Amino acid sequence: MSGGVKARHGVYLLLGLCCTLAAGPVQAFDEEAASSALQVARRKLTRTAEEVPLGQYPKSSEPDGTWLLVPADNRVGWTQGFFPGELWLIYDQSREPDWRTLAETWTRPLEVQQYNTETHDLGFKFMPSYGLAYELTNDDYYRQVLLRAAGSLASRYNPRVGIISCCDWNPDWHLPMVSDTMMNLELLLWASRNGGQPGWRDMALNHALRTLADIVRPDGSTYHVVDYDPDTGAQLFRGTFQGYSDTSTWARGHAWVIYGFTMVYRYTRDPRMLEAAQRVTDYYLGRLPEDTVPNWDLDAPIPQKDSSTAAAVASALLELSNYVPDADKKAVYWNAALRMLDALSSPAYLDTEDTSPGILLHAVGHLPAGQEVDVSLIYGDYYFLEAIRRFQRSGIWSSQPGFAAGTRTLGSGNTGVQVAEFDVMPRAQTLDGVIGHADSSARVTSRSEFALSLRLSPAGVFDAYDGTRYAATNAVPYEANAIYHVRILADLPAGRYSVWIKPPSGPEVLLADRFAFRSSAPVTDDLGQLTLKSTAAGEFWVVGHTLRPAPGARPAE
Ligand code: GLY
Repeated sequence: MSGGVKARHGVYLLLGLCCTLAAGPVQAFDEEAASSALQVARRKLTRTAEEVPLGQYPKSSEPDGTWLLVPADNRVGWTQGFFPGELWLIYDQSREPDWRTLAETWTRPLEVQQYNTETHDLGFKFMPSYGLAYELTNDDYYRQVLLRAAGSLASRYNPRVGIISCCDWNPDWHLPMVSDTMMNLELLLWASRNGGQPGWRDMALNHALRTLADIVRPDGSTYHVVDYDPDTGAQLFRGTFQGYSDTSTWARGHAWVIYGFTMVYRYTRDPRMLEAAQRVTDYYLGRLPEDTVPNWDLDAPIPQKDSSTAAAVASALLELSNYVPDADKKAVYWNAALRMLDALSSPAYLDTEDTSPGILLHAVGHLPAGQEVDVSLIYGDYYFLEAIRRFQRSGIWSSQPGFAAGTRTLGSGNTGVQVAEFDVMPRAQTLDGVIGHADSSARVTSRSEFALSLRLSPAGVFDAYDGTRYAATNAVPYEANAIYHVRILADLPAGRYSVWIKPPSGPEVLLADRFAFRSSAPVTDDLGQLTLKSTAAGEFWVVGHTLRPAPGARPAE
């Protein structure tokens, strides 16, 4: 899809003109709602970090307002990574060093799990904790632990059936696969790109394909469990463990499949994964109630909402909307995610009254076992914060008259040679605006911190900063309310960047040909911050800003 379509989509979102879900038009989840939810999260997480002893990890809320805890070294427990993951997400959003310290403190005790081969849940344990830690700090210690954990997970691969087996604790099963494991594949996919074995990618893709073949029903609904004969690979059982019945669709298991296919597509770009993600998503959206928070099982007659499913699906759909080529479908997924976030950030689900130690109310862990019914769940909270992060990173960003208000954090992992792409829409015929990228450690208080500056100049043309002055390799004028697609190739080690601009009609134009980073900017070895600065006389919008390494390494969402 062209950047222009992406931008128009974003503009429609803002104006509320865009497509509707079956359940109604998109609601008002916006920056303000995101920021209020983050305030609640900061308060809850601070309290949890003060009250929970180090080495124990919150899992679900208890009736007395405390957390049920799981020790760091519990081998079968799958939830220990989420609390540190939430701390990393708040650090990423705030860049306050105290949050980084807290996140590191709660991440490191999980190192004890790296050689654990007794569980398939190493992705759940390690990607929110160590995965985010490495993304946000670039500290090689985290990468090394991730690689060892991936090796442990790979040891559970059965080449005959092509799956990562799960659930050794259940003596009734032989070689079982569950929908949940889709989430654990990210550890293999990430590790295969970051120094691990290339074959780990194939294991993950094979498992996802087996999930598509055996867990997804023809109508897009899902089983929870498939059990195989380890010798012949024949299916012995298909049904459920945590859901209502063998023919029903357990809501969270379905969320894992939506999220999982989307994530596997991010790493593999295999079109079967994109098609699968859409198939299971379309089924799910067609089964949603008015408030978009599903029943714990889509077919159960026992009513009990599960906010954790809604949070995981909201996060997944914000990503999936980036990948689908059809503009209407893209809008359906984006708007559905916003409706889910709108519901979750309403008083019905967001615990502003502190009745629970968690952020979201009304989640279900395992209803058939009578466990964790109508509680807060640490993973629901984590995916809610992840969805807010994705929302904040991919919506329409308006330029601001102040540097602080116009600055967004992008993380410290955007090193090496990076490609930034986005659409820009001037909202005035002439304005004085700058799109500046700065190092994650810079304190952005003026234009001189931007190593890379793309300007909408008062003369009505784009230009870019070349060492000591604004210049342009080729002239590109701009007009109010037109959409320009921008591509920047930033060579951080060389301190140089190129910029191409595609006007609404006509081909891409080279605006800056290997311009030097601003000579007065602080040392810039990552693209850690983006600032959109304008004057009061006229603003501009940026839509769909993405960063990705060029080429290889970890793919952008
Ligand atoms: N094991 C993952 C879940 O309960 O959702």
